[in-house]
Amino acid sequence: MNPVCDVAENYDQYFASQLYDQRYPRPNPSSFAIVAREIHEGRKKVLDFGCGNGRYAAPLLDQTDAKIVGCDISREAIDELSVRCARHVEAGQLRLVCGDLSVLINAMGRNENFDLAILMFGVLGHIFPRVLRQKTLATIRSLLRPGGRIVVTVPNAARRFLKQQTMAQHLVRKGHLEPGDILYERKADHVTVNMYYHLYSLEEFMRELEQQGFRLIQVGAESFLPESGIVKSTPLHWLDRTLTTIAPLRYAYGFLAVAETTPEIATIRAPRTTGPGLPG
Ligand SMILES: C[S@@+](CC[C@H](N)C(=O)[O-])C[C@H]1O[C@@H](n2cnc3c(N)ncnc32)[C@H](O)[C@@H]1O
Repeated sequence: MNPVCDVAENYDQYFASQLYDQRYPRPNPSSFAIVAREIHEGRKKVLDFGCGNGRYAAPLLDQTDAKIVGCDISREAIDELSVRCARHVEAGQLRLVCGDLSVLINAMGRNENFDLAILMFGVLGHIFPRVLRQKTLATIRSLLRPGGRIVVTVPNAARRFLKQQTMAQHLVRKGHLEPGDILYERKADHVTVNMYYHLYSLEEFMRELEQQGFRLIQVGAESFLPESGIVKSTPLHWLDRTLTTIAPLRYAYGFLAVAETTPEIATIRAPRTTGPGLPG
């Protein structure tokens, strides 16, 4: 459990206030194209972990023949997505799970697995502490079929929340947070949402994927310009794509990796549980 804020409750507020939809009304077009490509290549059984209210799942269901399991810790997000994609739920193309990874595992069939897992726009960074982020990656790997893939994006510590990183230092020194962790706020008209986030270096991101049994296929920028700008403005998106070809990756706003399960490590699925114990 996060020591400083309740992620589910805060995301409930974030989605219910519609602040999230105002800031991010559609998916990042480049990240979306990468996920759609993975599905078109035949990876059709998809886990959207931290799916939110369906910014990726909804258009993926409309534009591909993916079958998606959407899992999110926020009840508000899951309720919004079930209304938004009611016909896909009825058709059996979308199954929704409200809860963390332990709830997802209990909801899955014994031999059920996925071709592709996506963790889009910082989902991993909301999981505290480091050991649970690592366990999350390892568990997701165990839910993938051999040769299954993950598409995951994380925020870049060198670009994001510099002031909050300075402010978090005393909490890191006291041992309440870990290096790279921050606390921040999002404000809507009547709502202040308090958030925890872990910001990554590129090296840390790649190392964690490799240590949890993934072989990197592609590592690049999620974007260089802020996500809230490029998802609302086509010219900004095109400018962002140009930056991708010329700017060093270490200046990216966020990193995106596509990785495949490595065959060397035996896939051992985490045991089914009836209570907490896995990432939340
Ligand atoms: C920044 S939002 C991204 C949502 C969606 N992937 C998108 O791109 O719009 C992060 C999401 O991760 C979810 N989340 C955070 N921690 C989680 C956990 N331990 N298990 C499941 N979902 C989690 C939050 O509720 C939130 O919906």
